Amino acid sequence: MWRRVASFSPFISSTKSSTLSQLGPTLKIWESFTTGAPIPVNHGISSKDSTPFITFVLGGPGSGKGTQCAKIVDTFGFKHLSAGDLLRREIACNSESGSTILDTIKEGQIVPSEVTVRLIRREMELSNNHKFLIDGFPRSEENRIAFERIIGAEPNIVLFFDCPEEEMVKRVLNRNQGRVDDNIDTIKKRLKVFEALNLPVVNHYAKKGKLHKKSTCADLCSRSRR
Ligand code: C5P
Ligand code: MG
Repeated sequence: MWRRVASFSPFISSTKSSTLSQLGPTLKIWESFTTGAPIPVNHGISSKDSTPFITFVLGGPGSGKGTQCAKIVDTFGFKHLSAGDLLRREIACNSESGSTILDTIKEGQIVPSEVTVRLIRREMELSNNHKFLIDGFPRSEENRIAFERIIGAEPNIVLFFDCPEEEMVKRVLNRNQGRVDDNIDTIKKRLKVFEALNLPVVNHYAKKGKLHKKSTCADLCSRSRR
């Protein structure tokens, strides 16, 4: 169940648009999520007719961000931009910053914000969609501030997938995607970085009333019991 944090709480039990549309006119954000109607934001990407609708997706490693994003894309037609995937693509195509990115990912640290935001901006500019699901970003206050400065926009909403550490570790070790950072040593570092750098971002958006939190453990645990 979705829980809007630190503010009025719309309860959304699934990603079905019918459920979302029942929330009424006061929930302009969710209405917009359902219908795709943009709500005004201060933005710098203005090449398209529509104002971008930006959703940030936060959560620790293995919290289920990618899985949930795929469902949201299917249901609501967002353009999915995974910051981690964009960085891995730079490594794969041997770009100028590829080797620095690889070293940073191996250490579970955060790539300089300028690099990541530049990649996100390029994808936003190339897309014909105006609804963006930006996954794994911002990972730090530095990421967040760089996005606001370079893109000139704030997210309309922020989704946070909350999952216990033990469950995250189990999932990452079991997923077999051949990632250089899916090993126990790097996972420990990623979890520390998540707590130190990502949680302040989560708190920032909670204070602004933009954060919608969902526990991904309940789903996962009940599914694994079936
Ligand atoms: O989100 P994902 O798990 O794919 O991220 C993998 C790694 O990519 C992170 O541990 C981090 O090293 C790097 N990353 C980053 N900045 C982001 C997103 C990911 O440095 N905003
Ligand atoms: Mg991912």
